[in-house]
Amino acid sequence: MRSLINITDLSVEELYALMDKALDIIAHREKYSESCKGKKIATLFFEPSTRTRLSFEAAMLELGGSVISVSGAGGSSVTKGETLADTAKVVSCYADIIAVRHPLAGSARNMSKAASIPVINAGDGGHFHPTQTLADLLTIYREKGRLSGLTIGICGDLLYGRTVHSLIDAMSRYEGVSFVLIAPNELKVPSHITEKLTTLGIPFEETTELEDALPRLDVLYMTRIQRERFENPQTYERLAGCYILDARKMRSAKKDCIVLHPLPRVDEISTDFDADPRASYFRQAENGKFMREALILKLLAEKDLPAAEENVYSDPRFKCSSKKCVCTHERGIVHEVYYDSKGTLRCAYCDEEISED
Ligand code: NCD
Repeated sequence: MRSLINITDLSVEELYALMDKALDIIAHREKYSESCKGKKIATLFFEPSTRTRLSFEAAMLELGGSVISVSGAGGSSVTKGETLADTAKVVSCYADIIAVRHPLAGSARNMSKAASIPVINAGDGGHFHPTQTLADLLTIYREKGRLSGLTIGICGDLLYGRTVHSLIDAMSRYEGVSFVLIAPNELKVPSHITEKLTTLGIPFEETTELEDALPRLDVLYMTRIQRERFENPQTYERLAGCYILDARKMRSAKKDCIVLHPLPRVDEISTDFDADPRASYFRQAENGKFMREALILKLLAEKDLPAAEENVYSDPRFKCSSKKCVCTHERGIVHEVYYDSKGTLRCAYCDEEISED
């Protein structure tokens, strides 16, 4: 069963094919209006969402399909103690495809192992958010005309910002891409991401200074400081508002440097920049719906193909103990691990390091 858990479950060729499909949907909306007739998507959102849930639902409705949904942490039997695996099995009896958002890293992967229908990861804690990346890729492709040869600045909460992790994984596969990672020291990208960049030989620099980096960028991806992921609210208060992009600062950027943001924004982009043609974030939100349409069509058409292959194994000695991972909350889960290219043992659900002692 094919699912979308990480953006790297899709090859570069498949991503181009999805973008071509989305562009065809944009050009010929009518042609697709009955493509999913009789099909249902289940949207299971255990965390707040506006864009992602509504764009999945709008996407399915525009394809002629229908929607069943659970939203809010209190809205399902998970609050009665049901495992996510059981929920996935049950929902597989009612729907043809699942989109799930959950606060624990690895939750979508766990559900995809139990489901008998495709599962789409609509955000698993601070880990990954591959369908936001689909929106990001189409926006860059439409507005810059290419995905290669770009200097991409990513600014804000790079530790907990799941959209950032999926975007880096995706853009790392295009030639001539380099990253400028702009974050306070407390919110730098996790090591499983920087280790991959180093192994692949992709140029990146880490800095705390937005204004110094700005003139060099082709794309600037702003993000919100993820208040809900902080264990200590005082740390959030100290870091909130650390980067604010506005029309004045953007005077030093290239004339064709586009600004993306997965939204929602808090105060990291001033509204005085919204009217600038380089402000791409609302177009990005619209692109997300078309990419989700293309993805739903693909996964439903390919549901009988095998899942993406993974080089993981389980060994009772190695167990993930991260509080943010589904492994430490889900009864009966089979822990799985892998060695990264540097030989570090990591959890296959959340990618955090596991001690071998
Ligand atoms: C993002 C998310 O949920 O991770 N939002 C979205 O899906 N567009 C970004 C965020 O919440 O900051």
